[in-house]
Amino acid sequence: MTTHHVITVDGLAASGKSTLSRMLAEKLGYVHFNSGMLYRVIGWLAIEKKIPFQDEEALLRMLAAHGVSLRASAGVIEVLVNGQPVTADLSTPHVSQATSSTAVHPRLREALLAMQRALTSQCPLVAEGRDMGTVVFPEAELKFFIWASEATRAERRLQQMAGGGRRSDQELNRLKSGLEIEIRERDARDQGRAVAPAVPAADAIKIENSAKSLTEVLDTMYHFALARGLAPHS
Ligand code: DC
Repeated sequence: MTTHHVITVDGLAASGKSTLSRMLAEKLGYVHFNSGMLYRVIGWLAIEKKIPFQDEEALLRMLAAHGVSLRASAGVIEVLVNGQPVTADLSTPHVSQATSSTAVHPRLREALLAMQRALTSQCPLVAEGRDMGTVVFPEAELKFFIWASEATRAERRLQQMAGGGRRSDQELNRLKSGLEIEIRERDARDQGRAVAPAVPAADAIKIENSAKSLTEVLDTMYHFALARGLAPHS
């Protein structure tokens, strides 16, 4: 079985890792695997099927019953449920909270390992998430950990949400405080859990991304990739 190159990009919520991973994958001709989407589909399914987030047995049964799988398609890895891509909005705060609560379960995470690792037999990957470099792809040739201050991350989320909308300053401040609380709670759960916590791998390159532009960080990542011999895939 051929094993393709893997670059891992772990980091905290709203740190910019998704945009950076997508752009790095494009630049290198690799496939972008956003593992957060896999966990979001599980959080979303748990809401849909009314499964209590703390009930690991029921979540495992749900996973088996709905045939969650991964497929490479047009430069990204899609998450399928019963063979179909999910079209629901997986970015809502409700799904985010459900996801971070259901992602704490060790056996559930274990059940997702084989399908993630199998991707390396199909294509070279930029794999982003919380435990890509520590647990899923410990042998990856290049690992990054991206973080930014809470305030910066809340501001970025706000910009994404507010895009084009007309909101008063009062409403924007209220939204920003809510986002900071959501991010803080999610960080605490993601970093504090017993299994696969969101921490940098010992050999990860850590990038603090509060004051830097996307292009600057992307260039840094790209140059590390070139230096490791992970040249653009033809
Ligand atoms: O990257 P994201 O914000 O879309 O991830 C959503 C949630 O999924 C996050 O709160 C933690 C969980 N997650 C995880 O536990 N392990 C991963 N590899 C990716 C995401």
